[in-house]
Amino acid sequence: MLNYFKNRQIDMQAERHIPYREPKLSVKEAEALGYYDFMSYLGVPYYHAGGLPSTKKLAELCRIDSKKKILMVGCGTGFSACYLAREIGCEVIGIDISELSIKEAKERAKRQGVPDKAKFIVGNAYALPFEAGIFDAVITEFVSQFLDRKRAFKEFTRVLKPGAYVGINEMYREKEIPAKAAEEIAQAEKKFREITGLPFSLSSPEEWKQELERAGLKDVNVRMCKNIKYLQETKNMAEAMGGIWSFVEYLISPILNTAKYFLLSRKIRYRFKRLEEGKKIFLRKKSTSKYLGYVLATGRKDL
Ligand SMILES: C[S@@+](CC[C@H](N)C(=O)[O-])C[C@H]1O[C@@H](n2cnc3c(N)ncnc32)[C@H](O)[C@@H]1O
Repeated sequence: MLNYFKNRQIDMQAERHIPYREPKLSVKEAEALGYYDFMSYLGVPYYHAGGLPSTKKLAELCRIDSKKKILMVGCGTGFSACYLAREIGCEVIGIDISELSIKEAKERAKRQGVPDKAKFIVGNAYALPFEAGIFDAVITEFVSQFLDRKRAFKEFTRVLKPGAYVGINEMYREKEIPAKAAEEIAQAEKKFREITGLPFSLSSPEEWKQELERAGLKDVNVRMCKNIKYLQETKNMAEAMGGIWSFVEYLISPILNTAKYFLLSRKIRYRFKRLEEGKKIFLRKKSTSKYLGYVLATGRKDL
């Protein structure tokens, strides 16, 4: 109990300073940023289902302890990486293609007092800048769904030590669902591909299993977490950001940061509109969201 309050205090202190900054880029420059660079520039928080409790669960499933060296691919602005470094004391390297996310992640690690444990570099999931066999776990949270799994999982497996784990927290869609729901979900996938420029697609739990096995991973285990609950997820996000007041700041700052671009750029307005439409289908609309959830899945590299 005491530990819980101690950790919350650290969270509160860690995340209280954020992230309104005068938006300096011109509208043209902002429009030219990739989706995730743009979101990081504005200070919009990223999201993965289950929040930090699911990060902790995934770490447990991958047998991560303080002696382990972890790679978090698509680490974004480093919430989970810093959390694992603080909570478990393991060494975490976060990698992401978004330069601005990595900049933000490095600052977070400093604020949270873990710059030696949580390190961040810009890099691509398909060509990890590491020699083979050096990590005890490779983790993705809401990232593999944006990747070509065949290429990415092979690359994750390459950098793992023998017997080490890949662990993923990614959305799934049930396989056999009514045609209308399937069509709407496919529309939402298309919207996410369009706004991110990434090959976003959801697999069924059975397909996630096959995709991990195809990379040569053994003992593949897929846990399904059904129905992502919008309110619960908002609560999880608030927790991850250090409590309700930090969360409110987090919501207000991006709105202030975004206002200039929102008013002046049709392209940016369109981006947010598509994002909201996609999120509605995935999270809020009952007739589609009931067929969706997320998996916590693990597989081990052969010994
Ligand atoms: C939905 S965000 C998730 C961020 C973070 N994992 C979280 O849970 O908050 C997806 C992230 O994947 C990153 N990403 C997408 N494709 C990538 C690639 N090929 N290599 C590395 N990172 C990638 C994006 O830049 C973005 O930060």
